[in-house]
Amino acid sequence: MEKYIINGGIPLHGEVEISGAKNAAVAILPATILAAGKCVIENLPAISDVMVSLQILSELGARVRLINKNTYEIDTTYLSCTEVPNELSRQMRASYYFLGALLGRFGNAQVAMPGGCNLGPRPIDQHLKAFTALGAEDSVEYGMINVHSDSLKGVHIFFDTVSVGATMNAMLSAVLAEGQTVLENVAKEPHVVDLANCLNMMGAEIRGAGTDVIRIRGVKSMHGCEYSIIPDQIEAGSYMVAAAVTGGDVTVRNVIPKHLEPITAKLRLAGCEVEEFDESVRVRRTGDLHPLKIKTMPHPGFPTDLQPLFAVMLCLAKGTSIITEGIWENRFRYADELAHMGANIQVDGQVAVIEGVDSLQAAPLRASDLRAGAALVVAALGAKGISEVDETSHIERGYENIVEKFQALGADIKRVDKPVLNVNQAM
Ligand code: EPU
Repeated sequence: MEKYIINGGIPLHGEVEISGAKNAAVAILPATILAAGKCVIENLPAISDVMVSLQILSELGARVRLINKNTYEIDTTYLSCTEVPNELSRQMRASYYFLGALLGRFGNAQVAMPGGCNLGPRPIDQHLKAFTALGAEDSVEYGMINVHSDSLKGVHIFFDTVSVGATMNAMLSAVLAEGQTVLENVAKEPHVVDLANCLNMMGAEIRGAGTDVIRIRGVKSMHGCEYSIIPDQIEAGSYMVAAAVTGGDVTVRNVIPKHLEPITAKLRLAGCEVEEFDESVRVRRTGDLHPLKIKTMPHPGFPTDLQPLFAVMLCLAKGTSIITEGIWENRFRYADELAHMGANIQVDGQVAVIEGVDSLQAAPLRASDLRAGAALVVAALGAKGISEVDETSHIERGYENIVEKFQALGADIKRVDKPVLNVNQAM
């Protein structure tokens, strides 16, 4: 078990390189199953969710070869097992993408009910709606979801709710189906487009990703490819907010500035200077932070995954901010931790009202989930004194080298092993 020790209050300065997008990587890795060939996937973030996905592929029978820290060759030619090991699939939410990919190639898949961050109820009814519309049958037995079909047929699907996971799973299961599939009311996140681009490189025929309607013409077979994953907009946004919180000057490199527009717009409204370049953005904060009203929404709205990070920033703004969480039922679990640091934040259901304070104080903190954890790290970087952040495994699911990247920006942060309590000593 590890924790982070953070001596905060130092403005961050310098440049940080953004890794590949977690939420694209965890769908593109299962997608390699559909290639039934050799894929080289570049710009994979070195995070635990990617390691779990690679381990699942290997357990299913793929040959997985490390080329360098962020590039793997995955040969799924001889992959034949369709049951994802229970203990692996429970480690991350995105294991549900193995359902779509295995169903698409073999007409069969068994995956345990997915794990991941606890953000309230996380149903997968829209994923199953897509599979059944394509002609599959599903059942849940002893915590395992089974999907089966003798032949998948293209169909018109209108999603009841905009879901990133259901959109991507429907694409995975439809690319090899017979005929045309039309997906309506789909998610438009950059990682949806990235998955479509990668599948097209493997021979799929997908049009319209990034709009409300995706059209897929089923193909008979697909093939291997080389593909480089897009930069992680949420990781980029996290470092942009860290610059604002600490009153620093940070250039965030290897990004697609267009993907960051909802974030850039809000940072400017909060009083930060944001300069955009071809593949980087520079964020500076010299004056006071202004309060904001934020409502999280599907892309291109403000991303829910940055809501906890912005909340930290708004705790230091001059005035009252209101954050409405429009995606998840339970994404304010970090508010109590921020209150321990002296923040004035009141949560009522899906709404948080934040009254800005002059400064936050160091405190012992516990990461309840991935983004809440990253938010607490940023809060600790902005608070004078020594904070400890516990349960950091949540954070390392999604942020490559977060400690080293903050150190390179001048932060005083280190990762230490937490001593395991010895029962005899404790007595
Ligand atoms: N929903 C349903 N039925 C479904 C699927 C979703 O009602 O079948 C609802 C959810 O309960 C939620 C909303 O639709 O209220 C949106 O859920 P979505 O399916 O879009 O979320 P997801 O695919 O499970 C992904 C990211 C999350 C991110 C959301 C929203 C991955 C692995 N996870 O989750 O990322 O918050 O999209 O953008 O891609 C994170 O990275 O920290 C994270 C939680």
